[in-house]
Amino acid sequence: MPNPLEPPSHGVLLQAAVEAAQAAGALLLRYAETGFAIEYKNPINLVTDADRAAEQCVIDHLKSRLPDHRFLAEERGRDDEGSSPYCWIIDPLDGTTNFAHNYPTYCVSIGLEHEGRCIIGVVFDPSRNELFTAIEGRGAHVNGRPLHVSETQTLDSSLLVTGFAYDIRETKRNNLDHFVKFALKAQGIRRTGSAALDLCYVAAGRFDGFWEVRLNPWDMAAGSVIAREAGGHLTDFSGKGLSIYGQELVASNGRIHEAMLAVLNQAPL
Ligand code: IPD
Ligand code: CA
Ligand code: CA
Repeated sequence: MPNPLEPPSHGVLLQAAVEAAQAAGALLLRYAETGFAIEYKNPINLVTDADRAAEQCVIDHLKSRLPDHRFLAEERGRDDEGSSPYCWIIDPLDGTTNFAHNYPTYCVSIGLEHEGRCIIGVVFDPSRNELFTAIEGRGAHVNGRPLHVSETQTLDSSLLVTGFAYDIRETKRNNLDHFVKFALKAQGIRRTGSAALDLCYVAAGRFDGFWEVRLNPWDMAAGSVIAREAGGHLTDFSGKGLSIYGQELVASNGRIHEAMLAVLNQAPL
């Protein structure tokens, strides 16, 4: 337990997030094995009792170690009591649609904001037992091994990833136009269904670039630290530094970034 009179070290904060993510990840695997209940926020936007249980697990773990910290969590919103400069931004289950279909690509995502800057990221994929971690200024790791973005130089030879928001049927800003343009320029495109893992995979050099519109802060907080610390470049569609509250995200190995922005800013087809 950190001394309440001193700010906790980054190592202590990271360890608290790792333990919370691993406990919640184990819980998700138990739900996946034994069954879960699904509710519909709209016809394509699901939430399960596993989402809620994993969120409670993460918050209980963090609160027991860091009782004065604030929280922004997907299922319960803001818990902004107090004046702590630290705010944990939590997606307890990123990849709910995958989880609900027993498609094993989902994760627990925990980011830490200090005075408005994301400084720590932890993303745990329980199905592959991959733990992605980063502390600002100290690099990014997967299961303790350093992570680096890819060296791919051109869009033509890039594997990209993207995603689509739950209001795809209601809005024209549904990303389908960008998808068509990139499909004609890149070597390949994937849609994994977990934005947090997409950012970690850019960090690991498994994807060369990732773009998406209408993301939420909990989709990006942890993964953005991990991708940046692995050497990635992260902006909005105009090339301005990423804000996790800004909905638009382009994350790349840096080398293909300008080419990605050029496609995103092309005239409509
Ligand atoms: C979703 C995933 C998906 C992205 C959606 C997100 P959820 O989060 O990250 O990849 O395309 O925009 O809402 O609902 O599974 O936590
Ligand atoms: Ca999410
Ligand atoms: Ca979620």
